[in-house]
Amino acid sequence: MSQILPHGGTLIQLVDETYDTFHIEKEVELDSVALSDLELIATGAYSPLTGFLTKKDYDAVVNHTRLANGTVWSIPITLAVTQEKADELRVGEHVRLIKDGITYGVLQIEDIYTPDKLKEVHYVYGTRDEAHPGVKRVFNRPDVNLGGRITLVKRVPKDQFASYRFDPIETRQKFAELGWRTVVGFQTRNPVHRAHEYIQKTALETVDGLFLNPLVGETKSDDIPADVRMESYEVLLQKYYPKSRVFLGVFPAAMRYAGPREAIFHALVRKNFGCTHFIVGRDHAGVGDYYGTYDAQKIFSNFTAEEIGITTLFFENSFYCNECGAMASAKTCPHGAESHVILSGTKVREMLRNGEIPPSTFSRQEVIEVLIRGLRREQVAAGGVQ
Ligand code: ADX
Repeated sequence: MSQILPHGGTLIQLVDETYDTFHIEKEVELDSVALSDLELIATGAYSPLTGFLTKKDYDAVVNHTRLANGTVWSIPITLAVTQEKADELRVGEHVRLIKDGITYGVLQIEDIYTPDKLKEVHYVYGTRDEAHPGVKRVFNRPDVNLGGRITLVKRVPKDQFASYRFDPIETRQKFAELGWRTVVGFQTRNPVHRAHEYIQKTALETVDGLFLNPLVGETKSDDIPADVRMESYEVLLQKYYPKSRVFLGVFPAAMRYAGPREAIFHALVRKNFGCTHFIVGRDHAGVGDYYGTYDAQKIFSNFTAEEIGITTLFFENSFYCNECGAMASAKTCPHGAESHVILSGTKVREMLRNGEIPPSTFSRQEVIEVLIRGLRREQVAAGGVQ
């Protein structure tokens, strides 16, 4: 069965656990974002990237949402080091990429450059506000970037969610085994609520399978922890989804909160995992009020369908309507806002903290129970509840 081509045409494979790094003296410490990026580059999730961006590609991505060769790419995948560290390094050298004393990769340095961070955040995040969690991370990283091809020499230990970690080559294989010709990818960083379920299942009415692909890399501290979210998916899948039509696997990347730019990135990566379709709903990958509700949908019109290569499925803001007695959106419901059950994630967390139970029209009770248990664990860990 022929499958969707990876972005750029080839699934990049840069894992070599036989690589002997003994002779490479110099080392560069990775932060947790760079470590997850290293692995995602090496396993082909970020195809066609073969390494951390060089200046030429970085400039093209920031300015034009493309790599230097014209291929669409929207988020700069960079490796940042201090000026002091950069002064020790030379173009052409190999360095070991380490985290907590363990060597995970090797970088062949092609470029050492100082990014214009103000420009980067303005173009990529649409704001220079340091209160934006993605912008803050860019500013908090050291000031010099190393670009060049990488090799992953050791897999990152699968401490968490081991049974849900799959490389693109494995998901592609899995979708083929399941006989799915069309697969819709779903990105999420939140527990599943009714609107998620509604748009997933609406999409599932027209495609063969759903790849539920929650992001479990670094998120901002007030997002619900990944283990609690995973539990919420498990209980829902168990009871309310046909087993043969859903596949759950985690996406270990960090959340950037870059809204429209990140929606493109999320779509291209899911294409690499073998999805043919990708859901973009309201304020995809947004945070606060930085982006318009449908900006992450509109940005796709800057590119041709061939350039993106995965079919986007856009969804209106969805909600439960008490009058309709069903999930709906402005496209399908004639009633006013007073009939609609709409709660923000922040509001739900606040309700739970105050011991209030969000309505079952917002979230299934099984999920609420998982969230309450998660919150209790958090409070106990923080010493707040005995
Ligand atoms: S995101 O940061 O990963 O985008 P979230 O997990 O809330 O956040 O959203 C996952 C996907 O569901 C995104 O495509 C988002 O646009 C969509 N979505 C979330 N809530 C709604 C809603 N009420 N109506 C329509 N789409 C939604």
